[in-house]
Amino acid sequence: MKGISLIGFMGSGKTSVGEELANALQLAFLDTDHQIEIQCGKSIPELFSSKGEKIFRDYETMVLKQMPTFDVVVSTGGGIVERRENRKWLKEHYQVIFLNTDLEVIRKRLADDRSRPLWQKGKDEVEQLFQRRFQLYRTTAHRVIDTNNRDVRMVVEEILSGIN
Ligand code: S3P
Repeated sequence: MKGISLIGFMGSGKTSVGEELANALQLAFLDTDHQIEIQCGKSIPELFSSKGEKIFRDYETMVLKQMPTFDVVVSTGGGIVERRENRKWLKEHYQVIFLNTDLEVIRKRLADDRSRPLWQKGKDEVEQLFQRRFQLYRTTAHRVIDTNNRDVRMVVEEILSGIN
């Protein structure tokens, strides 16, 4: 089966949903951020602070293109849609699902988060990032799933209901 990839803003639940979805479908689960950490031998915050966002994005594109595209669930970092090249790759090789979560809900979920460098930016900057990326997620995805007020199991069930 063509691989499934999950896209969406930080805190939209891509990793938790991806793990449970892969489990339900008995497929492998891979996460781009995790693969970046393995390949560069640093955590994401360390990579951002030592090499900067551009190098992080280069790793992200490289890792994305190394991923299998069949019989797999791939969860991606929230900024994967920043590069046109990644958007095109995702759309061509995967069934792309956008986990759509309101910024207010994400703010509650990530209130104490220190592990995401871009989340530490100011409120206005995060809001602009959210607004701008929203269109990119929409145009890259084949399906949009609303994850507001829904737990992981409910989101997974909705995804499964649309898979044949
Ligand atoms: C990022 C999101 C993070 C991670 C990195 C950059 C972004 O992944 O890739 O901190 O640009 O939105 P999550 O979406 O899993 O938090």
